[in-house]
Amino acid sequence: MKTITVSASKKYDVTVGSGLLPTIGQRIKDLTKAKQVAIISDSSVYPLYGGTVEQSLKGAGFAQVVSYVFAAGEESKCGSTYLQILEFLAANRLTRSDCLIALGGGVVGDITGFAAATFLRGIDYVQVPTTLLAAVDSSVGGKTAIDLGAGKNLAGAFYQPRLVLCDTDCLNSLPEDIFRDGCAEVIKYGILYDVDLFAHLKQTGLAFDRERVIARCVELKRDVVDRDEFDHGERQMLNLGHTIGHGVEAQSNYTVSHGKAVAIGMAIISRSARSLGICSADTAADILATIEKFGLPITTNCTADAIATAALSDKKRSGGTVNLIVPERIGQCSIRPTAVENLKSVIEAGL
Ligand code: GLY
Repeated sequence: MKTITVSASKKYDVTVGSGLLPTIGQRIKDLTKAKQVAIISDSSVYPLYGGTVEQSLKGAGFAQVVSYVFAAGEESKCGSTYLQILEFLAANRLTRSDCLIALGGGVVGDITGFAAATFLRGIDYVQVPTTLLAAVDSSVGGKTAIDLGAGKNLAGAFYQPRLVLCDTDCLNSLPEDIFRDGCAEVIKYGILYDVDLFAHLKQTGLAFDRERVIARCVELKRDVVDRDEFDHGERQMLNLGHTIGHGVEAQSNYTVSHGKAVAIGMAIISRSARSLGICSADTAADILATIEKFGLPITTNCTADAIATAALSDKKRSGGTVNLIVPERIGQCSIRPTAVENLKSVIEAGL
């Protein structure tokens, strides 16, 4: 078991290891004054782990445990599910000293976090990520959101959890394709910050040491969040592969998953960096080979024009420029403001 402490506006632990789920009740008891706990989950995850969490909470003496389960899928990360969660919390008379548990992947974590940020102007919540993507990225750092008709994550808040409990056993139930999606984010951390992590991934592919790698990714994210919680600068580094990936994802009408789109985005920006002389041919080749080793895509049929147009509808654009995260060598990337009219040619160079 490994514990990483985040020291953002709220200090909290991210605990990573096997067999942690049955300990959640006592951990929440030790951490909060909650009398009631509401588990928020989805129709894929709740049948697998809801019972274990409920039993642990009851065993720790919580008087009332209630569960709200919504249909699994990104379509549920919307205003109506969000309002239904708030109504459910109100109907069950949760108070400001009570606690929510986000039991699931990124959608569950994001919407529960936003409900926690806004219910009674803020209530404690605990993230229990059950996908790799949520474990290494979305459950840590306090970004909470729902999607609007105009785009993904357009309404939200920075609101840190009280605890992140990552039981690596939950990853055993993940379909391999969903696990692979999370690997794109794991590879991202290696390219951004850690030569040794990258070397480990390059060697092992999908069979990497889960506890060690998740904990290392969380440590790296923690360091960024501690320095730039509110995403004014350095935190944008975590968007490596995401701006172009977002274009690919949106252009496919979200039939290309987030992880695969990020993998394609990282591949395009690496080839582009090589052709612009920003990174060496060896660095680009290393990145492409590692992405492929995980069975993730490095090419797309989309045109540069279509990707650029879709990418520019991203909320991360600022004025006439878009900040691209560009690899210089393994373990070192830079933020490069790029004029919107040049984005298409940057993408073209990397297709
Ligand atoms: N997912 C990127 C961030 O948390 O900033």
